[in-house]
Amino acid sequence: MTGLPGGLPVRVPAEGLPPRVRIHEVGPRDGLQNEQAVVPVEIKAEFVRRLAAAGLGTIEATSFVHPKWVPQLADAEQLMPMLTDLGGAERAPGSPRTEPDTGSAGTAAGGARAAGGGAAGGGAAGGGAAETGTGGTAAAGRTASGGAAPGPGASGGAVPGGAVPGGAVPGADSRTTDSRSAGCADAASGAGRDPGAGARGPRPAPRLPVLVPNERGLERALALGVRDIAVFGSATESFARANLNRTVAESLAMFEPVVARAAEAGARVRGYLSMCFGDPWEGAVPAGQVVRAARALLDMGCDELSLGDTIGVATPGQVTALLAALGAAGVPVSRIAVHFHDTYGQALANTLAALQYGVTTVDASAGGLGGCPYAKSATGNLATEDLVWMLHGLGIETGVDLGRLTATSVWMAAHLGRPSPSRTVRALAGAPSDQER
Ligand code: HMG
Ligand code: MG
Repeated sequence: MTGLPGGLPVRVPAEGLPPRVRIHEVGPRDGLQNEQAVVPVEIKAEFVRRLAAAGLGTIEATSFVHPKWVPQLADAEQLMPMLTDLGGAERAPGSPRTEPDTGSAGTAAGGARAAGGGAAGGGAAGGGAAETGTGGTAAAGRTASGGAAPGPGASGGAVPGGAVPGGAVPGADSRTTDSRSAGCADAASGAGRDPGAGARGPRPAPRLPVLVPNERGLERALALGVRDIAVFGSATESFARANLNRTVAESLAMFEPVVARAAEAGARVRGYLSMCFGDPWEGAVPAGQVVRAARALLDMGCDELSLGDTIGVATPGQVTALLAALGAAGVPVSRIAVHFHDTYGQALANTLAALQYGVTTVDASAGGLGGCPYAKSATGNLATEDLVWMLHGLGIETGVDLGRLTATSVWMAAHLGRPSPSRTVRALAGAPSDQER
């Protein structure tokens, strides 16, 4: 059974875009944290496995936050050991981290640490010296050449610490695979090998970062051998209060020892910054306010900065303007990721603006799951399938097999009891088979 005929989307590269993009998959965390029902931990583990099998090289697995604040993710201690074979908690506490990918952020971080012992970039000179990825400043990132960020799921060689076979979907047995998802996988195979998925063969073990708000969260994560974490700050006071029970300054002070201790433990640290483009309580957020908080996160040692459009209100010109403001403040574009929610249907357009600026790391959520329990107007994230469709159409490599990914989202939607909001999932899952045509 086939869904779409082969050759779609048609690959037509556009000028000034990177050859490869690293997708930071947030479905298991940002997606499931917003579900009314708590998804059983076995299903969560299976979700992560299927995402890995679809070629996603970075999968944000869960959060080590207060269980009363986000009960949906209260099972982090159960989940991570279930993913040890994927690299989730495989290393003994205190052992040095491996480098599961060679993405631009990791390269930059390694450089910054080697050169500066922890403080990641202190202005244009510091950041620029550390950069080997997209080329230092935002201005450099604008050039067409700027963005080869070798993606973790791409055709690079295997990395110590395990590999996900490129073939079978682990755990895709009759108990957990419904007929629609099977049909979807067929649709992909019928359409031929997805060219954007890269070469077949063993894939590097995925990175499985987790959210950590404070030292208590870090302790919990490190005790399980996690070596890839994210702190999450806010550009606005209202959201800092709602999400972290702290002011912006207090939350930054809370993160400082977390980032320092994580670095000592050899962990990679992402810094999220929410409400970068608008806030449900405060309205427009001045770029200068975002830049100050962004600099604070990078200066305390975050390897990567993810700019959150938490409530999905950004438009492409605003994205470009904020990236330019960050560039002018010495933040290298290679350290920046974008995290768009799709409330107003702008997430793909905003992503394209960011890619044109030189960004090569894009957050997305399988099936478009997502939201934030502490920002009512946050809907789902940019759907990974919609992103992959656009990127592959642009000839940009992602390492992701769209058919497998779609099958995963259809499978998860069945567990959640509602259809995926992703346009691509709906189109592919509903595409008529050859027999039906
Ligand atoms: P608090 O109530 O101020 O906590 O919450 P506290 O520091 O006063 O501590 C109170 C008690 O909680 C203590 O226990 C601590 O040990 C315990 P007691 O001594 O009373 O027995 N505690 C913890 N227990 C387990 N794990 C922990 C932890 N921390 C404290 N980590 C806190 C402060 C930060 C903990 C709370 O506000 C919290 O957990 N917030 C998390 C909210 C959240 O996860 N939001 C969603 C993620 S952000 C997002 O979705 C946006 C993003 O996607 C980007 C975008 O879209 O923009 C990333
Ligand atoms: Mg989010």
